[in-house]
Amino acid sequence: MNTVFGGYQSELYLQGLADQVPVFTTDTAMLENAARGRMEPGPFGYVAGGAGSGATVRANAEAFDRWRIVPRMLTGATDRDLATTVLGTTMPAPVLLAPVGVQSIMHPEGELATARAAAALGLTMILSSHASHTFEEVAEANGDGSRWYQLYWPNEDDVTISLLRRARAAGFTVLVVTLDTWTLAWRPADLDHSYLPFLRGIGTAIPFSDPVFVAGLEKSPEEDPQSAILRWISMFTGIDRRWDHLSFLREHWDGPIVLKGIQHADDARRALDFGMDGIVVSNHGGRQVDGAVGSLDVLPEIVAAVDDRLTVLFDSGIRTGADVVKALSLGAKAVCVGRAYAYGLAMAGEEGVRHALRSVLADFDLTMGLSGHRTLADLSPDTLRRA
Ligand SMILES: Cc1cc2nc3c(=O)[nH]c(=O)nc-3n(C[C@H](O)[C@H](O)[C@H](O)COP(=O)(O)O)c2cc1C
Repeated sequence: MNTVFGGYQSELYLQGLADQVPVFTTDTAMLENAARGRMEPGPFGYVAGGAGSGATVRANAEAFDRWRIVPRMLTGATDRDLATTVLGTTMPAPVLLAPVGVQSIMHPEGELATARAAAALGLTMILSSHASHTFEEVAEANGDGSRWYQLYWPNEDDVTISLLRRARAAGFTVLVVTLDTWTLAWRPADLDHSYLPFLRGIGTAIPFSDPVFVAGLEKSPEEDPQSAILRWISMFTGIDRRWDHLSFLREHWDGPIVLKGIQHADDARRALDFGMDGIVVSNHGGRQVDGAVGSLDVLPEIVAAVDDRLTVLFDSGIRTGADVVKALSLGAKAVCVGRAYAYGLAMAGEEGVRHALRSVLADFDLTMGLSGHRTLADLSPDTLRRA
């Protein structure tokens, strides 16, 4: 039985006997507020910001608020088992770390701190293409931990092949291809600060350490960083990929492939038709299309459309343990958490990522038990009612 996550509650109470309190709030819905005062305005805006008016960020939160959990009694849920296996990866709980780029703007150790925290908790980390550390460095920090790789698909095939090879060699087992960010949305929080980390050379560790990418430059990234940055940015901006191009990735990646950014049942069916293994129902945390539908609002119809033939993951708006219960009840096999751990990283590095994730997981574990659910299989749409 695996009820370790809820044990964080006792640990925190006991700390009080030694006059200690948590490194920051355990109210994971309030992490944005907590981080606001502790981060520089540029990086804070980059993490917290959404597309345009912020309507999609709000829609994500509102979508969760429209569902309520119905607790059940006397179900023997004292001991719980939250473990699962997703696309061949075993997990102590169905929670992954979403790919979050440019983590050195949050903390100097960036993805290395995240990789250590994920490994310590046994959770799967998804490394962004826009990481501030290389595959190899992150793999070393992650050790025996489990790791997936998120691809922003370059428009040069030989570079793509090289990235996939390196990711595989460094122990990344599942490929997550993000489809919704072939250009950046209108993001006032960043525009108002004229702040784009990539232009400052942040989040370029993977291409700049790639022999095939570097071979295509006239001068090395060290000699001429601006040209290297511009070439990298142009390599994944506005590229004209279509569904049938996915066969290229299948040819060059021998593990499971997951498409991230799916919001329509027809696109989920297409993912299936084109031989994909999974999808992430995601609107990029409201960072791409302003005025879009809340990601949780489309989850049930997508789950119904693919009918267990595709692994459906979910992200966008997960802040609390109750949010995890709701997304799983509506059919997600696992959820990815983005900003919640990014704020933790910004506030306290590795310890902050651990604390943020342990708080979400403890809350999830306790909410499962108190609502009478012993295993993930106990969750279903009947767990919820419309508010
Ligand atoms: C600062 C930041 C950077 C992100 N970078 C990436 C990225 O490089 N690749 C990607 O696929 N998604 C990226 N995302 C989106 C996340 O993977 C995820 O979809 C989103 O954060 C989920 O919503 P949440 O923040 O409400 O949990 C980023 C999100 C944030 C907040």
